[in-house]
Amino acid sequence: MNLRAPLIRHDACDELAALCKAGGDPLRLNVLRALSNDSFGVLELAQIFATGQSGMSHHLKVLAQAGLVATRREGNAIFYRRALPQGELFGGRLHAALLEEVDELNLPAEVQARIAAVHGQRAAASEDFFARTVEKFRAQQDLIAGLAQYRDSVLALLDALSFPAAATALEVGPGDGGFLPELARRFRRVIALDNSPAMLELARLRCAQEGLGNVELRLADALNDAQQAADCVVLNMVLHHFATPAEALQQLAGLVKSGGSLLITELCSHNQSWAREACGDLWLGFEQDDLARWAAAAGLAPGESLYIGLKNGFQIQVRHFAKPDSRSNLTHR
Ligand SMILES: C[S@@+](CC[C@H](N)C(=O)[O-])C[C@H]1O[C@@H](n2cnc3c(N)ncnc32)[C@H](O)[C@@H]1O
Repeated sequence: MNLRAPLIRHDACDELAALCKAGGDPLRLNVLRALSNDSFGVLELAQIFATGQSGMSHHLKVLAQAGLVATRREGNAIFYRRALPQGELFGGRLHAALLEEVDELNLPAEVQARIAAVHGQRAAASEDFFARTVEKFRAQQDLIAGLAQYRDSVLALLDALSFPAAATALEVGPGDGGFLPELARRFRRVIALDNSPAMLELARLRCAQEGLGNVELRLADALNDAQQAADCVVLNMVLHHFATPAEALQQLAGLVKSGGSLLITELCSHNQSWAREACGDLWLGFEQDDLARWAAAAGLAPGESLYIGLKNGFQIQVRHFAKPDSRSNLTHR
């Protein structure tokens, strides 16, 4: 009798088995669903799924070993996001198919409510930061990247888009209003939305000093308060303060008129977690591909991008996304 173990190709077979095992649990499938356009820390996921931290850590380990989630360290915290399927690699098609099916799942109402609670906690932390730091605002911002470092690049993209004379602009999160004079010069009408009364007051002083008669300042939450659409929507260093940037892009796309543009200036992904405390950042920059993917999901087409390396090691991305013209399929560019 031959007692030798059957010949099994362990490497590839193990990988496939790990993928099947990771997908073979309802909680893990729901975790993947919750991560479809967000990333959460282990404590947040434990809160969302009302489970213990060690149990959640175990599930995340299984998902990570199967290559279904990727991790990103931010200070002491580890954030989990979905890993992108690699279609050309062994198991890649199964991975892609699994995520496709997972996206059909409806998360239970109580899980959705707890996700909203986690988002609320993040948003409150960000608002609290701006309320506390208004006096040192510019100095805090300049710790990483100040308007002086990205102003010319944003203007280069803006001017290349050649908006018509009657075009309108909407700046979300103008902070102390440093970019408003540039917008006021280029657009017939400019609306500036900020959810921080203290910041808006700084912007109001700036508009008064510069005699900007075509800028309207509004105290509003860009994601929750209804606004009129504009030809050009600008966000300079704001997206990393939003609890759910992928969903935010969906909502911001709705503020762009058909044929108009969304300009986003953001930090590229970094690992300087002190920025959370010092600058109130909820996200340590963004991967270029993530922004492009979220914009595409929001119905926006990628335009030109500029990247600015800084001496302090940070890198800035200035991105243009166009909203297709629903009448003629034309955009400004
Ligand atoms: C880092 S500052 C950027 C200021 C300015 N754009 C710049 O480049 O210097 C972020 C600004 O976004 C505002 N902000 C954050 N969340 C917001 C929201 N949900 N709606 C409107 N403004 C928001 C903050 O109050 C703050 O003024």
